[in-house]
Amino acid sequence: MRQFTEDTLTEAVIGRLKDVDNPRFKQIMASAVKHLHAFARDIQLTEEEWFEGIKFLTAVGQKCDDKRQEFILLSDILGLSMMIVALNHKTVPGATEATVLGPFFAHGAKEYEHGADLREGASMKGEDVYVSGKVLSLDGKPVPNALLDIWQAKADGIYDVQTDGEFELRGRVKANAKGEYAFRSYKPKFYSVPIDGPVGDLIRATGNHHMRPAHMHAIVSAPGYQPVITHVFVEGDPYLDGDAVFAVKDSLIGRYRKVDDAAEAKRLGMPNPFLRLDWDFRLAPDAGVKARKVIAPSDAIA
Ligand code: BEZ
Ligand code: FE
Repeated sequence: MRQFTEDTLTEAVIGRLKDVDNPRFKQIMASAVKHLHAFARDIQLTEEEWFEGIKFLTAVGQKCDDKRQEFILLSDILGLSMMIVALNHKTVPGATEATVLGPFFAHGAKEYEHGADLREGASMKGEDVYVSGKVLSLDGKPVPNALLDIWQAKADGIYDVQTDGEFELRGRVKANAKGEYAFRSYKPKFYSVPIDGPVGDLIRATGNHHMRPAHMHAIVSAPGYQPVITHVFVEGDPYLDGDAVFAVKDSLIGRYRKVDDAAEAKRLGMPNPFLRLDWDFRLAPDAGVKARKVIAPSDAIA
């Protein structure tokens, strides 16, 4: 076969997949070719424009290393990450909703017991907060021995993994046999996604802002339950309606209430006054559902 035209080329390329054994790979490749060709036809893409696209994708790749994942960021700001969450993690009624993982998860954070102080060794101070609650099943029963992998940005809006320093405001907090967990940290603040790379240029070119509303990240897991990758946002944050990565869900907005009670502060090991976030996570039963892959930037570097 030769002499292809814009009307016959797509089928010819897809035809070359005929000997592919893996049916899912074949389906993915055929659909990618179909939609890429349709995209080029739809906008009558010029060679100069496609070369700009190639330069952009090259720059995205060049920005990646074992700490920085510009492709995840690109997927996030295009809404593709949240589309994939929506397709693969339909909300089970009553369960904590899933949201974006983002590019700042790291494996191997320190394990902490109930009441942990995640402010340990922090290079910057923030507003002290005592976070506590339960990990529950859908029928409201405590889920024993859950693990909460927690991470959040420092007061300057930068994550520990964006610097050369140690882990900060990050830890794997064990819940107890009664499903209770607690840790001390700082109230998260809104921050900018990284804009010093090609994805930043893209955001600027669209005239959109690059802010994420304040949140802490949590991956909550327990034997026999579906793990959930989620956030807890901060009520009243100015960016809740314009998250640069489309990840806000109403059910994930938490209230940080001020506590002014010296005895309570002493009991909890907090300064007085302090903030308190009471937050329960609800897990759906495992039911053989494939767990969501938890990817750190280093996983993408072969
Ligand atoms: C984050 O929440 O850490 C994040 C998510 C998407 C893009 C950038 C940051
Ligand atoms: Fe974040």
